[in-house]
Amino acid sequence: MKIKEKASTGYLKYELKNFEKLPVKIWEDSVEASRHVARSVALAIRQRQQDGEHIVLGLATGSTPIKVYEELVRLHKEEGLSFQNVISFNLDEYYPMPKEAQQSYWRFMHEYLFDHVDILPENIHIPDGTLPMEKIADYCEEYEKLIDLAGGIDIQLLGIGRTGHIGFNEPGAWETSPTRMVRLDHLTRHDASKDFQSGDDVPYRAITMGVGSIFKARTVYLMAWGQHKARIIQQAIEGEITTSVPASFLQKHPNVKVVLDKSAAEELTKMKSPWLAGICNWTDDLICKAVVWLSQKTGKPILKLTDEDYNEHGLSDLIIEQANSY
Ligand code: F6R
Repeated sequence: MKIKEKASTGYLKYELKNFEKLPVKIWEDSVEASRHVARSVALAIRQRQQDGEHIVLGLATGSTPIKVYEELVRLHKEEGLSFQNVISFNLDEYYPMPKEAQQSYWRFMHEYLFDHVDILPENIHIPDGTLPMEKIADYCEEYEKLIDLAGGIDIQLLGIGRTGHIGFNEPGAWETSPTRMVRLDHLTRHDASKDFQSGDDVPYRAITMGVGSIFKARTVYLMAWGQHKARIIQQAIEGEITTSVPASFLQKHPNVKVVLDKSAAEELTKMKSPWLAGICNWTDDLICKAVVWLSQKTGKPILKLTDEDYNEHGLSDLIIEQANSY
């Protein structure tokens, strides 16, 4: 797996190795990260305005994009960013769900963004959670057509669920899936229960744009904040492409930008075991972490670890470092 080369010293040296299959940018905190995303969206909106064209945004709800929307609202109010050329399509909505309900994504979007900017109401599209079941299939087909008619999504904002879902495409979702009615995963319903009176009140279903619909977007921002997202982010970014982690399908998309805060990045190899990525500035803390890691990895007590163990597990640099310090 690791790429090795003989350095002039004769020791084996580990080259820099990238475990991430998507470009990742890690920010100190989610406020900074959200501002960065909002500024990129604002820049794209303004560029289109200069060309006299509209821009199509794919929007997410949930806690992740809130600070992005807050920054966009600030840019509108304080820096004159207009949304008159914006056409928006939201990813999903619970089903059934009245628009005015506290938990509806329709309400969320108006509360955090639409009520505070000058977007034209006719340009807003949010899946309708009030339709009778028999009309849903046609409605979903129509939603896809509307996206295509608008010219396709230019920028898609995404959060990620702990199940690895994007939109509400839960494990098992297929790569080319279109907008459709889905069942929510148990973990997703559990995570959503904080917004409802009780877990039993969380709807079992939702209407969601599919993985295929998301995939058609020209640029995708996948955002995640907090340690509770770290494990699934590692799987989505470093793991195999699998339907068990629908976000991993993004590895096939040509223009995805992953934006993380430090906590959400914690499980990435370059953060968790940077020696494997070949980027080590050996502090005392890091040495301790590496030695404990090696001991767990080999199942040997620390004092029984041999030079070979260090070499075979990407820690040859550490032996060189220690040898040089004596
Ligand atoms: C919401 C959506 C979901 C959320 C995900 C993360 O429109 O599509 O995929 O992005 O469940 O939710 P939060 O941001 O609340 O952690």
